[in-house]
Amino acid sequence: MNRLFYGDNLHVLQDTHAFPDASVDLIYLDPPFNSKRDYNLLFKSPVSGGRASRQAAADGSAGASPSNYTEAQITAFEDSWHWGDQAEREFDELLHQPNTDVAEMMKALRAFLGENDMMAYLTMMANRLLQLHRVLKPTGSLYLHCDPTASHYLKIVMDGVFGKANMRNEIIWCYRKWAVTQSQFASNHDTILFYSKGEQNTFNTLYAPLSEGTMKRWKGKKQLAVFNEEGERTATNKDEESKGTPMFDWWDISIINPASKERLGYPTQKPLALLERIIAASSNEDDVVLDPFCGCGTAVHAAQKLKRQWIGIDITHLAISLIEKRLKDAFKTGLEFEVHGTPKDLASARDFAKRDKYQFQWWAVSLVEAQPFQGKKKGADTGIDGLKFFRDVDQKDARKIVVSVKGGENLKADDVRSVMAVREREGAEIALFISLTEPTKGMVADAASAGFYESANGRKFARVQLLTIEGLLSGKQRAEHPDYLPDLNFKKAKTEASGEQKKLL
Ligand SMILES: C[S@@+](CC[C@H](N)C(=O)[O-])C[C@H]1O[C@@H](n2cnc3c(N)ncnc32)[C@H](O)[C@@H]1O
Repeated sequence: MNRLFYGDNLHVLQDTHAFPDASVDLIYLDPPFNSKRDYNLLFKSPVSGGRASRQAAADGSAGASPSNYTEAQITAFEDSWHWGDQAEREFDELLHQPNTDVAEMMKALRAFLGENDMMAYLTMMANRLLQLHRVLKPTGSLYLHCDPTASHYLKIVMDGVFGKANMRNEIIWCYRKWAVTQSQFASNHDTILFYSKGEQNTFNTLYAPLSEGTMKRWKGKKQLAVFNEEGERTATNKDEESKGTPMFDWWDISIINPASKERLGYPTQKPLALLERIIAASSNEDDVVLDPFCGCGTAVHAAQKLKRQWIGIDITHLAISLIEKRLKDAFKTGLEFEVHGTPKDLASARDFAKRDKYQFQWWAVSLVEAQPFQGKKKGADTGIDGLKFFRDVDQKDARKIVVSVKGGENLKADDVRSVMAVREREGAEIALFISLTEPTKGMVADAASAGFYESANGRKFARVQLLTIEGLLSGKQRAEHPDYLPDLNFKKAKTEASGEQKKLL
């Protein structure tokens, strides 16, 4: 069964029941590179509150046009590592695991680098690579995607974990990107370290189309062959001509440009073509592909497309909910997967809320299929945790729904009234109030006093809807609003043609 895990991949992988030894055929990982940046997820959002609609009403225009939308952002993940308690603990684990080469090598690196961000990053990576090596089958391979910030150190770590002899390629993924640089060349490539677990790794030679020059030269040769062999072409020429040239270790694949349909707004999203190439080369149909830093799910998308089984892990719930949507948009048939690590009942939801307030909020917001609003680093609390947009019958402009999540054990008497005020302030048609605890009778009465949004076709929807986590999890409750959701919510992945695989090159 295909599986998506929400959680820290080290803890997820340490569960040997879910991840037995030698159970995975191919691993691709694209960990944060220690670039010391925050990566923001972009959403489209109508210009602040109901202004677009109010302006439209005032000047008699039909409603919000594309220029009425701005891009809102939220920090999806942070890419900075610091030497501290956690790094010290993970370093200690490295010293006490069975691969003594790795323990020695990490000690040497620590002596050379000292206790700093890079060492913290390498410690984090070494522990995870050891787990990944454990779960790989003897015929399996691992592709580690990195860049010049740390690729030279990571190669040493990989030599320790996989053994120098199992290094297969250092793949250079090059792309065109405009950049102004001083005193150095523009850095327009990433490095992908390809290692196998053993000597007999699964590998399907891929071919690149022949260049025009080569084609012409070969045609000349072929005629010679035809002439010499009385009309018969040599088998070698025929084969090579149809297959192309065996692919080499530098790959020219475009990055996803901002206007591309493939782009989902998730930072660091990799092109599908890159992942399809890796998966086609190092796995076969029905093999298991694992991406332990799966982001918005490019590797699992490519695996599903190429009929592999797949497992994805990510530490932010934003990624998990984005992947669920991406896959459902792209594959209308034949898609089956389980999501692990997210609360399935009230007790685990309570525990989640206590452990991580923000991830809990993002998860709760995903239960009503809204997009999260504002991350932990944003300024004043607006009282909004999520946004959702709908379009009513015969209306061009999108209407807004605000979502507010209360993860605490106790609700305050005026919590619902504040949400009602937020709805009005924002010009939203509907407000969803999601709580862990049941609202009181007084709150229900407050909410009811907000009345209904009446759709053009006569359907009525409560303007303030009180939903509980338990009600949403059990399916007894759901957000009620007109059904048509414009593509303003998460961006939509292109639907994949069912079944057939496109050419890889
Ligand atoms: C560079 S992005 C991956 C992008 C992905 N290749 C794609 O095409 O969308 C790295 C991802 O690793 C996740 N991540 C960071 N630390 C993690 C950890 N310890 N366990 C699981 N995921 C982690 C981040 O949340 C982020 O989504």
